[in-house]
Amino acid sequence: MDRVLAPQKPLSPSVIRAAVGPAVRRGAEHSWQVESLDWAGLDADRLTELDRSAVRFVTFIEDHLPGYLDWLLTTFPVTGADRDVAVFCANREYFRFFMTWAHEEERHASALTRYQLVAGIAESEDDLLVELAQEGTKPFSLPYEHPLQAFTYTLIQEKATQLFYQRFLAGVNEPVLRELLKLMARDEARHFALYSKLVAGYLEMDGPAAAPYLKDVVATFRMPLAATLTGYRRWSFQLADTLGYDHTEAYGALARLVSDFVDKPGRTGSDDVLQLIDSLGRLP
Ligand SMILES: [Fe+2]
Ligand SMILES: [Fe+2]
Repeated sequence: MDRVLAPQKPLSPSVIRAAVGPAVRRGAEHSWQVESLDWAGLDADRLTELDRSAVRFVTFIEDHLPGYLDWLLTTFPVTGADRDVAVFCANREYFRFFMTWAHEEERHASALTRYQLVAGIAESEDDLLVELAQEGTKPFSLPYEHPLQAFTYTLIQEKATQLFYQRFLAGVNEPVLRELLKLMARDEARHFALYSKLVAGYLEMDGPAAAPYLKDVVATFRMPLAATLTGYRRWSFQLADTLGYDHTEAYGALARLVSDFVDKPGRTGSDDVLQLIDSLGRLP
């Protein structure tokens, strides 16, 4: 695939603010605290080996937040002179959501870390924090320099994470983990909704010209840390297999978004967009 994509016009700041404002507000309305979970009621005897393994796995994924945030702020810089002011302005609007997003992802990482300690999955806080930091030293980056690629990636990834938590929840009996998985799945669903709105904004603005960016992401998608987390391949395969989870199910959400765009009155799908929907439906 030709990975050289033409530069895009940024979304207008009012379109971004109309998406970001309600997302930030909803984040505040549905806020929860790590301290509010019923830690005293945690019953570690109800955890299976699979539960323990999955908690360890997702703690690594969530706790890599500094790396993800660093990548976002590099991809959408909000400091520095000599920038195109329209791009800079768009980045500043995205920034408002990134702060809410980072706060919520940090809560996931902190809650999971606490969970490992209270449940006895990890025995020493210092050892756990150093182990997480060890993985945290590995740089995170994505091969996407255009905002639409970045948002398409995050849309799929947030949906995949939400589906993972829901699938995991279905087999968990321990009440605190159940509560935590519900709360995290809800947060991930909100993140997905915002990134969907931004991708929809690009479809509205660029129409079929947006399709190559989406196609590129679908062709190159890998879950975060797939290339760096020690043992990722075997670990994720084993969890997915046991939980009946498949991250490619998240592509369906993107396919629906594109179909909704094409199905609006007065729209016809260009070959590019129709091919995109078709390829999303046929992914392995
Ligand atoms: Fe998360
Ligand atoms: Fe998320």
